[in-house]
Amino acid sequence: MSVFAPQDLFPQLAGWVANLDDVFPGKPIKDSVWAFAQIEVGHLLSLAVLGGTSLLLNLRLIGVGLTDEPPRELHRNLAVWTWAGLIVILISGLLMGASNAERLYTSEAFTAKMIGLAAGILMTFGFTLPATRNDGVVGALPRAMAVIGLAIFLVAVWVFLQAKLANPGLWHVIVAGGLIVLFASRGLTRLIYLGVIGLMIVAQQIMTHVVIPSDAFDRLDPVNKGFAWAFALVILAFGVVQAVASGREEKGAGFFVKGMAFASVLVWVMTAAAGRWLAFA
Ligand code: HEM
Repeated sequence: MSVFAPQDLFPQLAGWVANLDDVFPGKPIKDSVWAFAQIEVGHLLSLAVLGGTSLLLNLRLIGVGLTDEPPRELHRNLAVWTWAGLIVILISGLLMGASNAERLYTSEAFTAKMIGLAAGILMTFGFTLPATRNDGVVGALPRAMAVIGLAIFLVAVWVFLQAKLANPGLWHVIVAGGLIVLFASRGLTRLIYLGVIGLMIVAQQIMTHVVIPSDAFDRLDPVNKGFAWAFALVILAFGVVQAVASGREEKGAGFFVKGMAFASVLVWVMTAAAGRWLAFA
């Protein structure tokens, strides 16, 4: 039984939601054979723009990627695209949602996605953009925005974990986090990191394909969840080691800014994964 779907949280909206695909703009989109698909293309293109700018800006704060330019130069070129990505993703999402409202109303993944969206907006527009505009130096307000955004992000992850079939979506977040740490790490730390992650991947494959038959889902589920936690913790630990070790480098910002920049990328990955999981959960 679901607990976190919008219908459980806002039961009083049931009548309004049921009517949305009978009125403009939901009705013409639902009645058209091509409109939904075209709008979804716009949704995904704007995700590429929003996600891409977020990645470039936050990686720059971490100290990797386009490091030849100062952060404020990236901000000057990319801020307008970040805003454009957000505006188009919101408009296209609302249009698709209006034609498909009852499905979203019963979806726990949609709750996770909307909480993730709130966190993403706070972290990107309250923290990443101000931080890059000031070359990685942040005042009290962006710091507060980042901390509140991070707390909301953790709530979104927790809700996503409750959604039926949504847990696999969190592997996207773990893989994204793992890749960022791989790009950011250097020298011996990177080699040890690759070795540890490689061993864990082999161990997981042996456990889930040799030790436990690959159709014994009841037994596979807890093992995969255990590995998900283990991967998340190892990636975080190496991320912290790398951020501390590189703390005095000129190219990146301080430890707090790096950590928050890391989270600011992951929040959009989680929101997008929850978006994809609307089809299943
Ligand atoms: C007002 C905000 C939003 C609304 C109402 C919304 C609504 C929707 C709807 C209705 C779908 C189609 C689901 C389906 O029928 O399968 C969808 C798909 C999707 N959304 Fe959103 N969305 C919003 C914002 C976002 C944001 C901010 C992101 C990313 C960070 C995002 C990422 C995705 C992805 C990845 C898909 C899956 C597309 C596919 O399966 O091909 N959405 N969204």
